Formats: sequence, C-alpha cells, structure tokens
Amino acid sequence: QWGLETEWLGQKIIHKTSTESTQEIAQQAARNNAEHGTVVIADEQTNGRGRMGRAWKSAKNKGVWMSLILRPAITPAAATRLTLLTATVLADVITKQTAAAPAIKWPNDLLINHKKIAGILTEMQAEQDRTQYVIVGIGVNVNQTLYDFAAPLKQQAASIKSETGEDQPIVPLIQSLLRSFEKTYDAFIDIGFSGIKTKWETYAYRIGERIRVQTNQTVFEAVLAGIADDGALLVQTDAGETQNVYSGEISWLT
Ligand code: BTN
Repeated sequence: QWGLETEWLGQKIIHKTSTESTQEIAQQAARNNAEHGTVVIADEQTNGRGRMGRAWKSAKNKGVWMSLILRPAITPAAATRLTLLTATVLADVITKQTAAAPAIKWPNDLLINHKKIAGILTEMQAEQDRTQYVIVGIGVNVNQTLYDFAAPLKQQAASIKSETGEDQPIVPLIQSLLRSFEKTYDAFIDIGFSGIKTKWETYAYRIGERIRVQTNQTVFEAVLAGIADDGALLVQTDAGETQNVYSGEISWLT
C-alpha cells in the first residue's frame, strides 16, 4: 500500500483510518518498545495536537498526519535538532513535488505566502543524558480549501492547495517525505548538523529582518541572523551581540 523505498524508516507502519492523535499512538507504541523507524499514519485525527497546547485540525485525507518513532543514540540536547532537520526535509520535498515555494519559520513552522501550512511537534523521553526515544509529529495541510477550515482558523489557515490551486495525492508525498527524512537523518547521525544548518538557512523566512523574541524569561527585539551549530536560533541584539535562543517564539515587527 505504501510502496516505500526506504531501508529502515517505515519498515513497520501503524495505519489508522481515524484516531485521536498519532502522537498518542506513537507514545504508546514507543513505551511498548516499538522499534526505531516505526511510523504512525492516520487518515484523520479527531484530537490532533500542536505546540503549546494548541489544537491541530486534521481532516480526513486532506493532509499528512504522521508520527515517527526514533531512537537516536544522541543526547536529548542534540535531539532537539531533529525538529530543524524535519523542517528542512519538509521544505525540500514540498519544493520538489509541488509548485509551492515554502519557507521555514523557526523553530518548526512551514509557510507558503506567509501562511502556515505545516508544523512539527517533537516530543521525547529521556533519562539524564540518554535519549530513550523521540517522536517527531508531522502535520502538513495538503488539500484543504479555505472552506474546510473552521471559522476562527479561516483567516490564517492555509494548505498547499489553497496556495497553489493544485491537488496533491497524499501517498506520494508520504513516500518522498520518508525517503528524504531517512537520508537526511542518516547523514545527520554520520556527519553532523552542518549540512542541515546550511540548507535550513536557505529556506529561512525573512532572515536579516527585525523580530520580537519571546522566551519564558524575557521579550526583546533583535535581528534574525540564522541558526547555530547546536540548533539554537541566532539573533543579533541592539547591543551588537550575537545571542543563542533555545526555545520560544518569534514574530516580525514589520
Ligand atoms: C505545531 O505547529 O504546533 C505542530 C503541529 C503538529 C501536528 C502533527 S499531525 C501528526 C501529529 N499528531 C498530532 O496530534 N500532532 C502532530
């Protein structure tokens, strides 16, 4: 059914026609020792989750709703770079397969025409400096028309179709995503983050512009400079210093 050309990713696929959230299915499977590379795919999610406790609308067969179970032999700090890796893979595949030109908004949003069309939710289980497993949740709005989004979302919500006018079959998108993820992940484990970092920066949304940075501790304005080797966001403060931002949200001032 899936026709994958991968070596280890998706060798086992848990497919649900409808489920609350593929993250939950993946968590459960991981706790029950599901192996590295297990993939959970749903046609529809009834309780899809986004970052910061937000909901993620996941209508039947309108998008890619999937979670990857990974067991990387790297520290939890290094594993946070998997979000940036995934965003780069998504940007690459969407650029190659569709007429859209996506941009990445740190840390995990994909935008087309300034509107969000995909998000990544990375959750991990770690014990001290050992990563037990990482679950990378990927949500891509593919074939929704504005009509498919409920009222409060309508204004900001977008899909590949709403921005390009073209329908995309879901399965080939999943095939390319998994193949490209596997290659990129293997390179990351073998040779490190630098290739991903360079690619990420070529897709980065509005680099060099003024942003507002909101972290748990502070809010400040700065210029978006790129990302660091450890996956942190690099910003240039008004005092002329370069600062690493590890978590939070950014928005543009103009
Ligand atoms: C975000 O941008 O806030 C992240 C959205 C992540 C959505 C995906 S869809 C598959 C997986 N299952 C979920 O419940 N969420 C993620």
